[in-house]
Amino acid sequence: MSTHKVGFFVGSLSSSSINRVLSKALIRLAPSELELTEIPIGNLPLYSPDFDTDYPPEPVALKEALAASDAVLFVTPEYNRSIPGALKNAIDWASRPWGRNSFDHMPAAVIGASPGQIGTALAQQSLRAVLSFCNARQMTAPEAYINFRPGLFTDDGEVTDESTAAFLADFMQEFHMHTERVLTVIPRS
Ligand SMILES: Cc1cc2nc3c(=O)[nH]c(=O)nc-3n(C[C@H](O)[C@H](O)[C@H](O)COP(=O)(O)O)c2cc1C
Repeated sequence: MSTHKVGFFVGSLSSSSINRVLSKALIRLAPSELELTEIPIGNLPLYSPDFDTDYPPEPVALKEALAASDAVLFVTPEYNRSIPGALKNAIDWASRPWGRNSFDHMPAAVIGASPGQIGTALAQQSLRAVLSFCNARQMTAPEAYINFRPGLFTDDGEVTDESTAAFLADFMQEFHMHTERVLTVIPRS
């Protein structure tokens, strides 16, 4: 199978983000054909259509990073049963200006961790609706709602529990195959 560049978003600006720890685990467990690079969102101004004719440097960099990626992965917390504002802001920038939507036909996957029992399920549901409108080609299964408990991961993303490690490795393998399928039919231009 081919090698693919995956740009990933961490939907948290927290310096101690459990979702960033999860992203480190995913990098460790991903098949070698996936090359993962974080696309930062913390320095983006708030989106306004006033910028559509002249994007500032940070959103230009965001759109360039997505253009250089074959697929996109969202690793996000749930805020108030929905998408964290910083992540939604990044998506809004990437989806514009009209006619230059960076997510169009892009292979995409969603995962998230929370200390709560439903493991970001409602944030992911909201995010999936947004990505659907943005015409991203989402992996619909497996779903991944990670219930984060102390000790499950080390700070640098080692997974201490064998079944969780196997589940996350399978998720990334499935994402690789999904990406491969989408790009076979709709190559990135
Ligand atoms: C503004 C805010 C809203 C939150 N809302 C939810 C929620 O709806 N569901 C949930 O499971 N956890 C919620 N939490 C708790 C987060 O899951 C927890 O803070 C988690 O560590 C956030 O992920 P992060 O460490 O990657 O930033 C919320 C936290 C904050 C700060």
